[in-house]
Amino acid sequence: MDPSPLFKGFGQSTRLQQRVYDRIAQAVLAGQLKPGDRLPSTRELARSLGIGRNTVTWAFEQLAAEGFIETRHGSGTFVSSELRNHTRPRKLSPAVRPVKTAARLARRAERYATVAQSLRVPQKLVPFRINMPAIDAFPTVLWRRLINGLLSDDAIGGHALLGGVEPAGYAPLRQAIARYLIINRGVQCSADQVIIVAGAQQGLDLAVRLLLDPGDTAWCEDPGFPGSIAALRAGGARIGAVPVDRDGIDIEFGKARHPEARLAVVCPSSQFPLGSTMSLSRRLALIDWARRRDAWIIEDDYDSEFRYRGRPVHSLQGLDGGSRVVYVGTFSKLLFPGLRLAYLVVPKSVVEPFVNARIVAGRQSPTLEQAVVERFMSEGHLGRHIARMRRLYTKRRQLLLEACRDRMKDLLHIQPSDAGLQTIAWLPNDFDDQAVSRDAADAGLEIPPLSRLTIEHRLPPALLLGFGHLTETQIRSGAARLAAILKSHRHRGRR
Ligand SMILES: Cc1ncc(COP(=O)(O)O)c(C=O)c1O
Repeated sequence: MDPSPLFKGFGQSTRLQQRVYDRIAQAVLAGQLKPGDRLPSTRELARSLGIGRNTVTWAFEQLAAEGFIETRHGSGTFVSSELRNHTRPRKLSPAVRPVKTAARLARRAERYATVAQSLRVPQKLVPFRINMPAIDAFPTVLWRRLINGLLSDDAIGGHALLGGVEPAGYAPLRQAIARYLIINRGVQCSADQVIIVAGAQQGLDLAVRLLLDPGDTAWCEDPGFPGSIAALRAGGARIGAVPVDRDGIDIEFGKARHPEARLAVVCPSSQFPLGSTMSLSRRLALIDWARRRDAWIIEDDYDSEFRYRGRPVHSLQGLDGGSRVVYVGTFSKLLFPGLRLAYLVVPKSVVEPFVNARIVAGRQSPTLEQAVVERFMSEGHLGRHIARMRRLYTKRRQLLLEACRDRMKDLLHIQPSDAGLQTIAWLPNDFDDQAVSRDAADAGLEIPPLSRLTIEHRLPPALLLGFGHLTETQIRSGAARLAAILKSHRHRGRR
């Protein structure tokens, strides 16, 4: 743990030595600092607290004498490893005790608590996580070269990249994205309509805040992406669940059941989670509905670059001409999800409100990372990366299909997705997909059940299997573990 927060509010006092001693001792006793945790050096700590080094040295000597800390020559000062079996929380001083407060949180906090749960992703990456690109194959050497090049580029002024940029984003990146989208996705836009955000999730959140008032209804694909549903719920919107079939969202159902809706959130190029592509007639019908109703459409185009079947489909935004579609794209799948860079393309008429909202939500995205992505695009690496990843994903997807066919032919029917980094696998009708998913988790696999992604329309049991990040060995061993689980459920189901 970083001990600096322990010293927050640490001012000048006549008994500074004692206070430094108390804070560290109590943090150790409370388990906030654990055996083996490194402490800052006396010099660093004195400097950051703005007190004399002798004061800190006295406190450290006292702590060492009492066995709280130990100095390992050449490597620093640590919380004593001998305490490993002894520390347990004791009565804490007011400085360390968690603050209990009578002040209440806004009701919004409760909404966040329920919706955010569906978006948490465990740290450890295991088979068959969905939405995860091949981070093992990302060109990190090239990435490092681009960062170094930018920081030492006098023409750009490496230091200038350490400052801020226009809240809508680094201008050269916005231009590169606009060019890319016009050519590759048939989006109709200019660079000033592109707004850089911290991930598609932030883009969805901002769009919901600006397009709807609390209590307004939005059509959501059912099953659908928990991230957009979470953004809608957090924003106080009412969810109008609309079923999805092979052609995409069922517009007639939406009109009949939720006629009051003012927004539709869709993934037309690659429906999440079913992986289907919205047909042209549905796209036209959706645009027609939005025009007649004066409603908005959010087009979540999160991973359409990786297509395996059929011709690449152009964006809905391009069909509409960009008047009522807010287009959301992300670098999370194209590059890597930890980058947290994505973009909105918004109608010209609402650029300013969106930029205003972006300023409030964190001012801007990191400048240096934006500049690196711009270089990656303008030097032609993105095109090559996409082509390379498409070949890799085609291979991994094929390996998954084969492994499932060889081991689970009667237990899993894979419906290969048209695009994306995962695929849907249907189970026999008498299986409980949530129970399978729980057993899979016990076996070290991460396999979301389809029933957890539905809102109100039930579908047959199915699993979602991600393949983007898995090596051949991981696919095979994961499939073997899943096969064993499904066999045990077969006997359960028919009992
Ligand atoms: C359908 C869909 N939309 C949006 C996102 C969010 O992407 P980001 O990582 O940019 O927030 C995801 C992420 O997995 C997704 O599956």
